[in-house]
Amino acid sequence: MRGQTFFLIVIFIAFVICKRTPRKVRRLPDGLLLGSATAAYQVEGGWNEDGKTENIYDHLTHTDPCFAVDCSNGDVAANSYHFYKRDIEMLRELGVDFYRFSISWTRILPTSFPDTINQAGVDYYNKLIDELLMYNIQPVVTIFHWDLPQKLQELGGWTNPQIVEWYGNYARVIFSLFGDRVQHWVTINEPQQICQWGYGSSELAPALNLSGEADYMCVKNLLLGHARAYHIYDEEFRPIQDGTIFISISCDWYEPASDTDEDIQAAYDVNQFMWGLYVHPIFSKRGDYPDVLKKRIGEMSKKQGFLDSRLPEMWQDEIDYIQGTSDVFGLNHYSTHYAYRNASTAKYFSQFTKPSFEADYDALTYQLPEWQIGKSNLTMYVPWGFYKLLTYIRKQFDNVPVFVSENGLATHGGLKDDDRVAYYRGYMAAMLDAIDEGSKIIGYTVWSLMDNFEWKHGYTERYGIYQVDYKNPARPRIPRKSAYVFKEIIRSRTIDMNYKPDMSIPMSVYY
Ligand code: NOJ
Repeated sequence: MRGQTFFLIVIFIAFVICKRTPRKVRRLPDGLLLGSATAAYQVEGGWNEDGKTENIYDHLTHTDPCFAVDCSNGDVAANSYHFYKRDIEMLRELGVDFYRFSISWTRILPTSFPDTINQAGVDYYNKLIDELLMYNIQPVVTIFHWDLPQKLQELGGWTNPQIVEWYGNYARVIFSLFGDRVQHWVTINEPQQICQWGYGSSELAPALNLSGEADYMCVKNLLLGHARAYHIYDEEFRPIQDGTIFISISCDWYEPASDTDEDIQAAYDVNQFMWGLYVHPIFSKRGDYPDVLKKRIGEMSKKQGFLDSRLPEMWQDEIDYIQGTSDVFGLNHYSTHYAYRNASTAKYFSQFTKPSFEADYDALTYQLPEWQIGKSNLTMYVPWGFYKLLTYIRKQFDNVPVFVSENGLATHGGLKDDDRVAYYRGYMAAMLDAIDEGSKIIGYTVWSLMDNFEWKHGYTERYGIYQVDYKNPARPRIPRKSAYVFKEIIRSRTIDMNYKPDMSIPMSVYY
């Protein structure tokens, strides 16, 4: 009897220890697709080659040469326009299922419109797509990753409602050129960064800095443009090409800074303002903007003397046109923040006399210094925030399938990127926790395949699992430790927290 009790106690202690110790080896579910990503302006270079014309990043970096902190630009970047074969070699070394890249609008349509199709541009993407398929790597093609034709910007860009047709026609050309081979389309990458950062601030092109006005005009046109491309694909191409089409929305997670009602409400509001305004119209059953945006922007606009809300109203036919227009939820996720609202936030925002996106959501946010795991503070390490976000999406939107279209950490260079390795292990494990609880995650994408032009940060912040030597005209790419680790994750379909790669073995011997 005493022996039996002892045995039960041992089992109980072993159970408690197992529960408390983070699992060292995690298995990936069958069918989860793994890949990596880049975007045209960030890697291609060839900015004016073979008939390509100017886009808003060419224009901004040439007219304001120190727009990027290191006064750099994407004129040559990683020169993938010429070195794409090496990029595909890297993807083969890794063993990925897919490669997400974007198409440069002005490389295909130099006048911005379908009246002129640039054959050299078409040839470039044909070669890229065909070579990927030859090695059984699925192309996941982003139709628009921020590089709007400069000419269209001069016509108002995303604030001009005509852009719905301009973008729709561009997308139609892309489907007809490449849709016989491309099965996965991303309409638009990261609407928040386009509208709030590009039109509402000067962080990104076109750097209009018209917060609380231009950004909201952009939101509505962008949602309609995305829906236009979706419907064109759905009606004209899907019946023959039978692919998937979705939007990639960047969602950081905002957590209440305390359990007061004010902070809980503040975090809810910030999540809605940052990404709910794009997610709700597409993925909720009712469509339209979240109520909190309509209410708050409406009230603030009235107080400021506007006759209408600065958030352009969505009419019922537009709500219906946008609702349900994404086959899956394309999710770009990087980090988490705390949000709060109290007397000091009220005092801070009372000084704002002009319209402002921040004053509209009326809360402040911060991150903890201990979340920084490397030299860069661009992406802070908070894997539990990823888990919370995935859980929220599952519960809120009827367990919509999620394709994680970006996730990654910036470093300041070097091949032994232990911080990035830790980040990927932690974030993938958090994703597996959500999957264990029922989240349907169908793909996971490492941002980025290689170091590239990180917008305002130029080449100072490096997201690549391959390092690119920007001093060398041949732009050699060298695998970092994270590339070895990602390769092993793909090969073994497990995350092994103890795996230590032997970086003296060249990656190329594997394929
Ligand atoms: C999101 C964007 O899609 C990409 O262009 C950027 O480089 C990464 N996040 C990192 O900031």
